[in-house]
Amino acid sequence: MKEFIQYLPKVELHLHIEGTLEPELMLALAKRNNIDIPFNSIAEVRDAYNFHNLQSFLDIYFQGADVLIKEQDFFELTWAYLLRCQADNVVHTEIFFDPQAHTQRGICFDTVVNGIHRALIKGTTELGISSKLIMCFLRHLDEESAFKTLAQAQDHQDKIIAVGLDSTELGHPAAKFEQVFKQAIKQGFLTVAHAGEEGPASNIHEALRLLHITRIDHGVRCTDDEELVQQLVSERIPLTVCPLSNIKLKVFERMEQHNIVALLRKGVCVTINSDDPAYFGGYMTDNFLAVNQALPMNKTEIAQFTFNAIAASFISKSEKQRLT
Ligand code: HPA
Ligand code: ZN
Repeated sequence: MKEFIQYLPKVELHLHIEGTLEPELMLALAKRNNIDIPFNSIAEVRDAYNFHNLQSFLDIYFQGADVLIKEQDFFELTWAYLLRCQADNVVHTEIFFDPQAHTQRGICFDTVVNGIHRALIKGTTELGISSKLIMCFLRHLDEESAFKTLAQAQDHQDKIIAVGLDSTELGHPAAKFEQVFKQAIKQGFLTVAHAGEEGPASNIHEALRLLHITRIDHGVRCTDDEELVQQLVSERIPLTVCPLSNIKLKVFERMEQHNIVALLRKGVCVTINSDDPAYFGGYMTDNFLAVNQALPMNKTEIAQFTFNAIAASFISKSEKQRLT
């Protein structure tokens, strides 16, 4: 089964590029860019990766992102991730980035998007990995900052397919971003949002109703509301689930308690993704293996995650047909 999972073609739909910053690159960039970080060794960095909830992770995640300064840094970060994709047989990936995490520190929006995009193009031509880019608004920041970010994206709309919503879920309801999502849709962006990771099932309802999203990031708390689960099935609304992330951030105590396989068997379009693999201890193959070890599946079920991800992806109909 390990070999089957290793060689299974995979599609990733929930991946924060800043969350692929491995300690080695973090230390190298800190040195190259003269940035002070509170770690002196790779072991010290890894020791800090003990999280008790989403916020305790986000604090470390934003601190790590401070070492990214130049376009070349964003390029190297993205390229390193694409090499991991190649190793895991990821054939298509849809990547989030958090522009406000960088523009807030005085880094130019163009620097961020151009560095990431250059690596994605190289990934397509040299590795045969197709990709899309999704710009997330940080939900702990205000609406005005999100609108400013949307304006900055205007010159790069050819490189960005969708907008999303991430960071602190509790206390930052979807309603805060209703207008900015409305404007983004008007400009032609597709929409996704993190919802029902730490927050209740009602956050998923709100994201669907107020933000008009076409797929939900995480969404595992949907099982608290059976009617919502039935809606996800009947309307084929996909969930981009991140199993190792959910364990690391204590959304579920143990993988054996995770609901992803139960949701798959109920007919929900669930997918497996790595979220922030440098922080959560595994890329795509590791996530598949961890789920299957705790909740054994047959090969048809495992392959269904890839079929679901193809269906849920933002690639064209003809490209979907080519992959299936
Ligand atoms: N949830 C919310 N925000 C995030 C996450 C996550 O899992 N990863 C990076 N930003
Ligand atoms: Zn996420």
